[in-house]
Amino acid sequence: MFRRVYLDNSSTTPIDKEVVEAMLPYLTEKYGNASSIHFFGQEAKGAVDKARHQVADLINAKPNQIIFTSGGTESNNLAIRGLCEMNEQYGKHIITSKIEHPAVSNVCEELKEKGFEVTYLPVYEDGIVRIEDVENAVREDTVLITIMTANNEIGTLQPIKEIGNLVKNQRENGNKMWLHTDAVQAIGKIPIDVEELGCDMLSISSHKIYAPKGAGALFVKRGVRLKSQNLGGHQERERRGGTENVPTIVAFGKACELAKQNLEKNSEHLKNLQDAFEKGVEEKISDVIFNGQREKRLPNISNITFKYVEGEGLLINLDMQGIAVSTGSACSSGSLEPSPIILAIEQPEELARGAVRFSFGKDNSMEDVEYILDVLPKAVENLRKLSPHYQAVKA
Ligand SMILES: Cc1ncc(COP(=O)(O)O)c(C=O)c1O
Repeated sequence: MFRRVYLDNSSTTPIDKEVVEAMLPYLTEKYGNASSIHFFGQEAKGAVDKARHQVADLINAKPNQIIFTSGGTESNNLAIRGLCEMNEQYGKHIITSKIEHPAVSNVCEELKEKGFEVTYLPVYEDGIVRIEDVENAVREDTVLITIMTANNEIGTLQPIKEIGNLVKNQRENGNKMWLHTDAVQAIGKIPIDVEELGCDMLSISSHKIYAPKGAGALFVKRGVRLKSQNLGGHQERERRGGTENVPTIVAFGKACELAKQNLEKNSEHLKNLQDAFEKGVEEKISDVIFNGQREKRLPNISNITFKYVEGEGLLINLDMQGIAVSTGSACSSGSLEPSPIILAIEQPEELARGAVRFSFGKDNSMEDVEYILDVLPKAVENLRKLSPHYQAVKA
């Protein structure tokens, strides 16, 4: 039988059965609008409230600090644009990193057109922002630092707690600035505690933690003022107008509850898969580069450059054998650009094109790892045989 192995869990995850069960009634008989006063509305409102508690609980926040959105992208837009537009009297300088998701970097670029200045911090070969660089970048007119908790392509963890302390010190010295972190890839894989991190805003998304696509949340600390980006009704305490997506919010809440319950078990399982996979690659394939720090990173992402191989070619070859992976490449106007993340970790362009991301999920098994370790070495070898560059180097 043709085997399918899904190793693209950082793109999206399958939906948990328990999550489907929790949301089903809200797709059928419990269809009220959470803003309505009657029974149906109150039933829906109760479900949204419960989900708000479940989401808050996962990140050690209070339920009234959670704004439901349509996903990670909207949470990042609301955090960055909402904060900057509301607080520009305190300054128009933003600090971010070179490896943010486009849902952060594109918003920063847009704000440049509105007179903001943006400092993009380097991440060096290991894919990690240095706290000294953050310190040096801070100015009197810095209003926002937005740096991700964990990177989506190489999984490296950023020093958010240290940056949180820095922002706290700055504020104590009268410099009005806030910290946002995109934790879309981090939740469910490592413990996230907004108090411990000392962040003012934190973005998360439903479909990365075994719930359907279409819900997200922004944690906003008490006292942080944001300009709503969705003008409409009074939902989400005036900060995000629009009828709540009740079934998906219910699912998101359940997924957060399960993520909290199973965090340790799932992370350990992912780490075992990652270790076994990487050990196998090291043993069976030559000329590979493991991208990013291998200590301070998520337990589920392995990003590997296979020298003399195009990542896209390998992706297609693996797909034909039932294995789903991804490359960081973005296809723009017909030309395949190397991943900006892999370029940011100082890899030359020709190598950056050979980077492939393998992202494990809780439903992957050791048998999946064995299958990929059986298929991958042959796929790499076959592609290398077709590479004139490889032939010339090895001749
Ligand atoms: C780090 C990061 N931020 C934001 C997003 C966007 O989240 P969503 O797909 O929920 O809009 C993603 C999705 O891949 C991501 O990996």
